[in-house]
Amino acid sequence: MRTAVYPGSFDPITLGHLDVARRALTIFDEVIIGVAQNANKHYMFTAQERLELAHASVADLAGASAQPIHGLLADYVKEVDASAIVKGLRGSADYDGEQSMALLNRHLSGVETIFIMGDSGLGHIASSLVKDVASHGGTVDDLVPAPVATAFTRKERHV
Ligand code: PNS
Repeated sequence: MRTAVYPGSFDPITLGHLDVARRALTIFDEVIIGVAQNANKHYMFTAQERLELAHASVADLAGASAQPIHGLLADYVKEVDASAIVKGLRGSADYDGEQSMALLNRHLSGVETIFIMGDSGLGHIASSLVKDVASHGGTVDDLVPAPVATAFTRKERHV
């Protein structure tokens, strides 16, 4: 059984993330969407919401699951005996940020990071942009999985 951990903030999970998870499942038997904390980010959705939305969004994706990562990613991948960490790349800007994380995670855990190029038709989808569109009343239904679109609608009603 070859397991990959696909970590991220997933604030919230998008169709771009799902595409990368689907592609990872062509290589690995199991892909764990690891919902983690990035100390440099302020989140729109709580850790519990981000986890629940990821969980609901991969419900139909055989081999995928969503789990929380509370501490270091390097410790988590050893704990679940992962064969690799998976990250999605949309372009060179993503790569610049990912390179040092991949090297540090390998230093700490011995686990390699595998980069997967997402569908070019989804390259414009980023959680930060989706949140911006939604917060200005724009439609995000074709950018995020259905449970996330519903969550945005619920948030709007409570503002
Ligand atoms: O979606 P993001 O915010 O780019 O994901 C970054 C994330 C959450 C994967 C990264 O911050 C992380 O791995 N956080 C867990 C704590 C950790 O291991 N930090 C050291 C990273 S080298």
